[in-house]
Amino acid sequence: MKDSVGLRKAEHIRICLERDVEFKKKTTWFEYVELIHNPLPELDFDEIKLEARFLDRLFNYPIIIEGMTGGTHEAYKINKNLAEAAAQLNIPMGIGSQKAAIHNPSLKESYRIVRDISPNIFVIGNIGGVELVKEGVEVAEKAVEMIEANALAIHLNSLQELIQPGGDTSFKGIMNAIERTVERLSVPVIVKEVGCGIPKEVARNLESIGVKAIDVAGAGGTNWTLIEKIRAEELGELEKKALGELYLEWGIPTAASIIEVSSTVKIDVIGSGGIRTGLDIAKSIALGADMAGIAKPLLKPAVENTNAVLEYLKKIILELRTAMYLTGCRNVDQLKHLEKVLTGPLIEWCRQRGIEL
Ligand SMILES: Cc1cc2nc3c(=O)[nH]c(=O)nc-3n(C[C@H](O)[C@H](O)[C@H](O)COP(=O)(O)O)c2cc1C
Repeated sequence: MKDSVGLRKAEHIRICLERDVEFKKKTTWFEYVELIHNPLPELDFDEIKLEARFLDRLFNYPIIIEGMTGGTHEAYKINKNLAEAAAQLNIPMGIGSQKAAIHNPSLKESYRIVRDISPNIFVIGNIGGVELVKEGVEVAEKAVEMIEANALAIHLNSLQELIQPGGDTSFKGIMNAIERTVERLSVPVIVKEVGCGIPKEVARNLESIGVKAIDVAGAGGTNWTLIEKIRAEELGELEKKALGELYLEWGIPTAASIIEVSSTVKIDVIGSGGIRTGLDIAKSIALGADMAGIAKPLLKPAVENTNAVLEYLKKIILELRTAMYLTGCRNVDQLKHLEKVLTGPLIEWCRQRGIEL
């Protein structure tokens, strides 16, 4: 079977919808974070304020729709439904890698639809770090221009590329490419993983070259090693399949990555990778994240319609508000400074990594 970008994107959507592609053994480690119950909250449920500041703009909720797709017919509908929900709720949204449309402009519409929905929606463009190394900073400029992006996310996916049939494994020169992109673009640059997390040393380096936000995308949620392993199996690439099997549980659990990054840098932090409830969002923020990002749980509702996306997000928002009520937090800032108890491997992780809590 031929491996073109468009076909690969369609396969990613199909596999994410049809198969269980979450981490199996490793979790996000949110179960090792306890928020302390406050039986005397002294506030009304409805007065809790959920507004959050991210990249100098105020949003209604500390929630980001993570970048997922573009470049196929189905992606057009998915991005449209997600954009309508993001515009209604006033939350930022990402799109999938724009590589396909940079090489084939006829695919632009499936990304561009997001901007066409609303001139005010905060849209985060997306390009692979490996693409920047190969093609130069111009691809970042084209990606921003294509959708009049408010920010650009550069994704780091070394393990995914390794397992992906036809994947690109030339990451040499990536810091330099990111630095030149930061210098060249007029919009802020976000660096993200796709499910293996980001450690504090990398976060510090990225902050030092002017990156404005880090999206941890840690382990415990959608597992890209598993998705590419399934594809490798389907394509008969048995060596890649075997390599994928060995590294299925690789990555920094999301809770650990949020602590690593937020305890080290002053720039904005997005907690993502396995955010499945409003309680996960509350824990992410209590650990130091400014926003929390959700990807795969939004895929199925987005295939259906805008209302399904809104319903899902409203459920998550209710869960978040509940966590804030039960901990006596009037607003997101109070949640960020909330006392919490870490247990089990998470506390051991912090101790060995020299992170003071
Ligand atoms: C169908 C799908 C496609 C994705 N495509 C991209 C992509 O093109 N670029 C990117 O940076 N991340 C991509 N991601 C990764 C997500 O942005 C996110 O980092 C990851 O899925 C972890 O979040 P989750 O556990 O909530 O799904 C994709 C995720 C999904 C589910």
